[in-house]
Amino acid sequence: MASVPFDQLDGHIWFNGEFVPWKDAKIHVLTHGLHYASSVFEGERAYGGRIFKLTEHTERLIKSGEILGFDIPYSVAEIDDACIKLLEMQGFQDAYVRPIAWRGSEMMGVSAQANRINVAIAIWQWPSYFKPEEKLKGIRLDMAEYRRPDPRTAPSKSKAAGLYMICTLSKHAAEKKGYADALMLDWRGQVAEATGANVFFVKDGVIHTPTPDCFLDGITRRTVIDLAKRRGYEVVERAIMPEELEGFEQCFLTGTAAEVTPVSEIGPYSFTVGEIATNLVNDYAAEVQPKRLAAE
Ligand SMILES: Cc1ncc(COP(=O)(O)O)c(C=O)c1O
Repeated sequence: MASVPFDQLDGHIWFNGEFVPWKDAKIHVLTHGLHYASSVFEGERAYGGRIFKLTEHTERLIKSGEILGFDIPYSVAEIDDACIKLLEMQGFQDAYVRPIAWRGSEMMGVSAQANRINVAIAIWQWPSYFKPEEKLKGIRLDMAEYRRPDPRTAPSKSKAAGLYMICTLSKHAAEKKGYADALMLDWRGQVAEATGANVFFVKDGVIHTPTPDCFLDGITRRTVIDLAKRRGYEVVERAIMPEELEGFEQCFLTGTAAEVTPVSEIGPYSFTVGEIATNLVNDYAAEVQPKRLAAE
């Protein structure tokens, strides 16, 4: 984590079509996105100078905006291009990429029909989401008090800032008790995901993961399912009840920030950092690296 506040880092931020000096990328306090959470964002990682699955992330950003009822005023190609140029300008090989879109200041109230949709992209260095030494041993998760909402209660398929309110609350509560993160159930009481990553379990050589019907079907989640199948592992997507945690042998999280992170504990239940989790940590680390042409 940077010791300098994020608004004081160096370089440039892409802001509504222009590259502006980092410290000048400011918005007014009367911004709809700030007051009413009318904002959607992405989290991407660059490895070896290439942003992994960039277009998939950009498409999800635009889709997230549509779900919140707004059209992002740039095409997928324009946003992809801005991310690539900014990464070059920032001069990083490995970095975290954060595009965000939000409703501006033209109207202040629940209704914001006329507000401009603003878009910005920031890129910074963020080596590990969890402490590297904890990541190797497997991180410890608490059980979260808050539950992922029913899709009839909140637009759960959008990577919308508002949905992260319960994630920050849950993560803070877990950190206060010495845990790295928290596992959230959904509105039905089924296992859902961690506060910023999807969850997988292993039992008798088979991988089990909750069906993403009220939380993000993560891009990393789908990548890891493909990698697991490539190795010949069976992957079962299904409803998982918390009582089943006792019977699982391995557990790991997946997410752009978290990558593949083994889990050693969830509340009273323990897991080993076993072969399947370790293989997928390594397979994912290899998969994200840019592929060089054989002739190079
Ligand atoms: C709540 C939540 N679930 C899941 C994920 C994993 O998504 P992805 O693998 O697309 O980064 C993230 C990270 O973006 C997240 O914030």
